[in-house]
Amino acid sequence: MQYIRFKLTQEQMANWSVGTLLVSDEPALPAECNPPPRRNGSREASGGMRFWCCLALACPALIAAVPSAELCRQCHAPEYEAHVRSAHFTAMKPARQSSFAQGLNGLTLRESADGYEFLYKLTAEGIAITAIRGTRRGEGLIEWVIGAGLQGQTPLVRTPQGLRESRVSYYPKLERYGVTFGHPAGVSSSPEAALGIAETKGEAQQCIGCHSSGVTDDLEPAVPGVQCWRCHDGALEHANGGDKPPFNPGKLSADGQVLFCAECHRLKAPRTNDPGNVRFQPMRLIQSRCYKNSKALACTTCHVAHHDARRNDLDFYNGKCRGCHAAATIHADARGQGNCIGCHMPSVQLHPALRFTDHYIRIARSKSP
Ligand code: HEC
Ligand code: HEC
Ligand code: HEC
Ligand code: HEC
Ligand code: HEC
Ligand code: HEC
Ligand code: HEC
Repeated sequence: MQYIRFKLTQEQMANWSVGTLLVSDEPALPAECNPPPRRNGSREASGGMRFWCCLALACPALIAAVPSAELCRQCHAPEYEAHVRSAHFTAMKPARQSSFAQGLNGLTLRESADGYEFLYKLTAEGIAITAIRGTRRGEGLIEWVIGAGLQGQTPLVRTPQGLRESRVSYYPKLERYGVTFGHPAGVSSSPEAALGIAETKGEAQQCIGCHSSGVTDDLEPAVPGVQCWRCHDGALEHANGGDKPPFNPGKLSADGQVLFCAECHRLKAPRTNDPGNVRFQPMRLIQSRCYKNSKALACTTCHVAHHDARRNDLDFYNGKCRGCHAAATIHADARGQGNCIGCHMPSVQLHPALRFTDHYIRIARSKSP
């Protein structure tokens, strides 16, 4: 197997474009690994299907070729232990294993104002979804659910017309299902619209590409979750005894590292002037004078690599500010002992269940963009 990284143009970057294409150049598989017929009846054997089939059927000869973070564990235990607990590791899950699936049993969901009703059924392949309103009806299959579940989980719905971003998401903090962030409220105009918003192939590839470690041509994730080798190019060869050290983003300049993380966390927003853009940390951070004038502020100045953001640990982050600012001279008053983050990196509630931290460090006037 060989991973090919897309080189991003500025235009692609603006379009959220990102991804790794998995090109399968393995020899033909033993007969028992041939994929089961697909729903449309074709037996098209893509790299992705073969890959999963082998995982499921445990073809011993090929299992060794399946990359896994386990490969790194024996030599990099601390990084491994942190990473497997992080949202990167679980950024996408097989549908039945997701929190989205857990509460569905016997649940009836319906759009307000007598709109579409959603029926879910767990099947061997995932979660079957039917959207019904009167005589109108749409059906799809959820094989993958996107999102580690820190804030939300959104399924991808496979329909005869292609993949859709589900209209219904699960919000763990509220312990409830709701309309996906960014989707229109109200009654859906058609059964298809009730299933979700259509994704072009390119969009679906980007979506899976950011939440996994590679995506096949027929939109199967190579390995779900942002895995070690997604950030450490060359790590698989290194783990297999290669003599070149893998790429280490910790050795990039501050600019370089911000760009690196921005491949997924985004430097440019798909829509300008959208308050939701506060969730694109790199795009916000680079506007800060701290970033522009210090030339030293990187994501890892404040975030320990391999870990999620630390919650409720203001001392930790305020300590980072104090590393560059002598707080007492800047704020002779009580603010010098206060919570720098609360005033200069306020958190923004985008939706009842979604809260992000504004990484544009500044003298934040209320509602200033
Ligand atoms: C058999 C032991 C072994 C395995 C397996 C292994 N590594 Fe390493 N790795 C090392 C050693 C030893 C070094 C230190 C090399 C050095 O500093 O010159 C290293 C260094 C690294 C570095 C730092 C490179 C740098 O230039 O700073 C990264 C990143 C890394 N490994 C990632 C991985 C990942 C990811 C995996 C799993 C896919 C992995 N390693 C598997 C032994 C291993
Ligand atoms: C391949 C895409 C990708 C790259 C590259 C990437 N991330 Fe992420 N990151 C994600 C995704 C996707 C999530 C959200 C996972 C989820 O919740 O589903 C995430 C989550 C995180 C979180 C946890 C968020 C939380 O709520 O605690 C932190 C922190 C983070 N990333 C920092 C970084 C930093 C720093 C870098 C660069 C060194 C980086 N990421 C590079 C895709 C990426
Ligand atoms: C350009 C890369 C990129 C693309 C494309 C992308 N995401 Fe994400 N997604 C991220 C990152 C990075 C995060 C982490 C955001 C954070 O915590 O700040 C994230 C977070 C999420 C979360 C919230 C996870 C949580 O609980 O914290 C969901 C749900 C999600 N994405 C779904 C999707 C879906 C569905 C698609 C495609 C239809 C998609 N994303 C496309 C990068 C991407
Ligand atoms: C989201 C991107 C990302 C992922 C995924 C990731 N790393 Fe890293 N890794 C980093 C960054 C960034 C650094 C640099 C940290 C620093 O310099 O502070 C790093 C540094 C390292 C180092 C060098 C540590 C040192 O002391 O110099 C090793 C070894 C490593 N990672 C191993 C792993 C292993 C093993 C995995 C999977 C279990 C993994 N990484 C997953 C981003 C990532
Ligand atoms: C790597 C060093 C560094 C770190 C870390 C850092 N800053 Fe800064 N910050 C700077 C520099 C340099 C400037 C610009 C000073 C100048 O131009 O006079 C600045 C400017 C500022 C400004 C003025 C912004 C404006 O637009 O007028 C504020 C407010 C600020 N920092 C707050 C913080 C807070 C809060 C933190 C922690 C979350 C922080 N800084 C972390 C280096 C840093
Ligand atoms: C000056 C410190 C600082 C820097 C630099 C920084 N962050 Fe953060 N980040 C924070 C703080 C503070 C939080 C909120 C922690 C909490 O939830 O209490 C946070 C939260 C996050 C989250 C969780 C979602 C959210 O928005 O609350 C992600 C993802 C993230 N940062 C990614 C990044 C990336 C990527 C970079 C580099 C472009 C970066 N951060 C640089 C301080 C920083
Ligand atoms: C209660 C809100 C609040 C807290 C807490 C706070 N600041 Fe400020 N900060 C401000 C305001 C407002 C300004 C604008 C100047 C002023 O009013 O004094 C400012 C200005 C600044 C400046 C720019 C000074 C200049 O001359 O351009 C820096 C740097 C700064 N703060 C850093 C910090 C750091 C570091 C902390 C934490 C130790 C912190 N602030 C805590 C509200 C706050």
